[in-house]
Amino acid sequence: MKKICILIVLALLIGNSGSFAQQIVWKEIEPGIWKGIVGKPESYDLLKASGAKPFEEGLLKLAKTGFPLQQDDISASLTDGKVYLQFPLQKEEQLYGFGLNFQTVHQRGKILQLHTDHYGGKDNGRTHAPTPFYVSSKGYGVFINSARYITVYAGTGVRKNSTNPEIAKDRNTDKTWSSRPYSDAVEIIVPATGVEVYVFAGPTTMDAVRRFNLFNGGGVLPPRWGLGFTQRVKSLYTSAEVEKEAAAFEEKGFPLDFIGLEPGWQSKSYPGTFEWARQRYPQPSQFVQQMLAKGIRLNLWINPYVSKEAPFYKSIQPYTGSHTVWVGEVPDFTLPEAREAFMGQLKKDQVDIGVSGYKIDEVDGYDYYLWPDVASFPSGISGEQMRQTFGLLAQRYTNELYRNKNQRTFGLVRASNAGGVSLPYVIYNDYYNHEDFITALINSGTAGVLWTPEVRASKTAEEWLRRFQTVVFSPMAMINAWSSGTKPWSYPEVASQIKELALLRMRMIPYWYSEFAKYHFEGTPPFHGMALEEGFKQEIKKDATNKNLEENPYAEATSKEIKDQYMAGEYLLVAPLFTGQTTRKVVLPKGKWYDFYTGELAGDGEVITVTPGLDKIPVYVKDGGVIPMMPAMMHAPKAGEKVDLEIRYYGTKPGYYKLYDDDGETFNYENGAYSFREIRVIKNAAGNFVGSITDPVKGKPNTVGSVTWKFMSK
Ligand code: GAL
Repeated sequence: MKKICILIVLALLIGNSGSFAQQIVWKEIEPGIWKGIVGKPESYDLLKASGAKPFEEGLLKLAKTGFPLQQDDISASLTDGKVYLQFPLQKEEQLYGFGLNFQTVHQRGKILQLHTDHYGGKDNGRTHAPTPFYVSSKGYGVFINSARYITVYAGTGVRKNSTNPEIAKDRNTDKTWSSRPYSDAVEIIVPATGVEVYVFAGPTTMDAVRRFNLFNGGGVLPPRWGLGFTQRVKSLYTSAEVEKEAAAFEEKGFPLDFIGLEPGWQSKSYPGTFEWARQRYPQPSQFVQQMLAKGIRLNLWINPYVSKEAPFYKSIQPYTGSHTVWVGEVPDFTLPEAREAFMGQLKKDQVDIGVSGYKIDEVDGYDYYLWPDVASFPSGISGEQMRQTFGLLAQRYTNELYRNKNQRTFGLVRASNAGGVSLPYVIYNDYYNHEDFITALINSGTAGVLWTPEVRASKTAEEWLRRFQTVVFSPMAMINAWSSGTKPWSYPEVASQIKELALLRMRMIPYWYSEFAKYHFEGTPPFHGMALEEGFKQEIKKDATNKNLEENPYAEATSKEIKDQYMAGEYLLVAPLFTGQTTRKVVLPKGKWYDFYTGELAGDGEVITVTPGLDKIPVYVKDGGVIPMMPAMMHAPKAGEKVDLEIRYYGTKPGYYKLYDDDGETFNYENGAYSFREIRVIKNAAGNFVGSITDPVKGKPNTVGSVTWKFMSK
């Protein structure tokens, strides 16, 4: 009896507060991807919300390799009713990822709580895409498939049982004392009693990113028109004003592929009715068709919070959450009934009359706007899980409307997460710091998302031009004039430079499109930071001496991160200047780099200082770089339209490029209706460059007209 009592007391004591070591059994589920299960994973997670399925064809093409870490160095426990995870971290190792951060690229030493939110000016885990994925400079990646608020200690905790413990130093006498002693682990808390964990092999950091992207279905391949220029008009514009705006673009010779209508297209907004405002858009169908006839598509702003006056309110009402957002009801998109009502309205009222896509706003935060975590949803998904996945669900099911029509869409969204890699949306926000927008562009490449450093308005013509220069070298070239009403030509002093940039964006569509195809088929993010570039070695300071020990012993000795230059596709290094800057340093990775505009040698694996003038954004091309370009058209080529190519080649190394081609608008590429044509440039016996391109592939779409060559480096 006594024994039983003791056992019961012990069991009660251990109960919730105990810590139970968990054995992780690793299983290779795809080449170079291992899944480990801890405890009993929840039935709802990021991959379930997004519906992402691995892109097998792409994964099979990556090199076979072993488990990238010592399995014994990864441990898990169930502690306090939560999963505690621990991954190894070597001294000279840097970490990238943990979502769409805006101010930092290096994540080692961070404490983050990954939580979907509107970015609030601090890299603390609260962001539009708090993707629980990181990659290491040692060439591997880790993904935690949970729709919970995950806490990450990315190398901060100093464990007593470390096999490589830090030695205590005397701050009184030792100048190498550090307030951040070496931590040998990334430690993670998942507030659930089980979770799936994935490990991605390299061998390079980029390979680990590729495997993650391919595992999530491969990157999105936008329609060609999505890569053209887009203007968002003032909120309360009428159809007549939109038509006038389009005419002004045409008249002034500015390219334009799609116009974004903001809340005023709806009869009511905040909360929305999801039907046209007839006083502003009396004949929606005719209007959309007339715009299409001019080669201009329409993208509609929504936030998915339903007004009582929405025509489908009654049918969706039972399938919405317990709390409202701006008094609009929150659809539980995990339920087919909610999707049918909501998406049915979008289909009938907009998609079926030719609207090309959506901007899905305010699915991220702030806390005061969205439902609180105590909210409940009819499916049983918690407020927290819904917060982490609402953006994914909205993207997934709006995209389905277009898939069902075999038409690609390309829109905007303010929240995403792991699993959203193949969804055709670009993240934007209300924050407007140009420098931080570029850092976000870098981090988008390790967060499985796309990001646009949108241009809205500027205090000066200089700022307008500097911002415009970067948006042209980004996934979506957009002016968001919903409130400002600005046009590309609004700053007359720089209007001609702006026009030139917009035309350059158009000329580069063959390059952008092929780079996005690599995102889809190979998992390579089209926009990414230098850390993913081969030949770019980031110094990680070992025992940096703290020079300021007496004044501030807690100052961190960190290695300098490169967060103001990035790669745009395989060959281009973009080094923006910001307002007030006339000169900057550019870190060129190993090898020779050439000026994009002139073809001249810019440097060879060195740090250069450049003074490009206001009109130029510095762009450098890797040795052997091939950039396919087309004439500066006013709209992206239509499905199947043949376009002449000018193939530019830079440097001296043999040139190679895979030019992607398909119809540009449908999903037929998923059934094989595409080709990659190989472009080569070599030096012949006489010392002259000669270019060649393989023949169009029989039976596949061929949109290439005549080909001319431009050897840029003399
Ligand atoms: C904001 C959004 C802006 C604009 C505005 C319209 O939330 O970020 O881009 O769409 O709403 O109300």
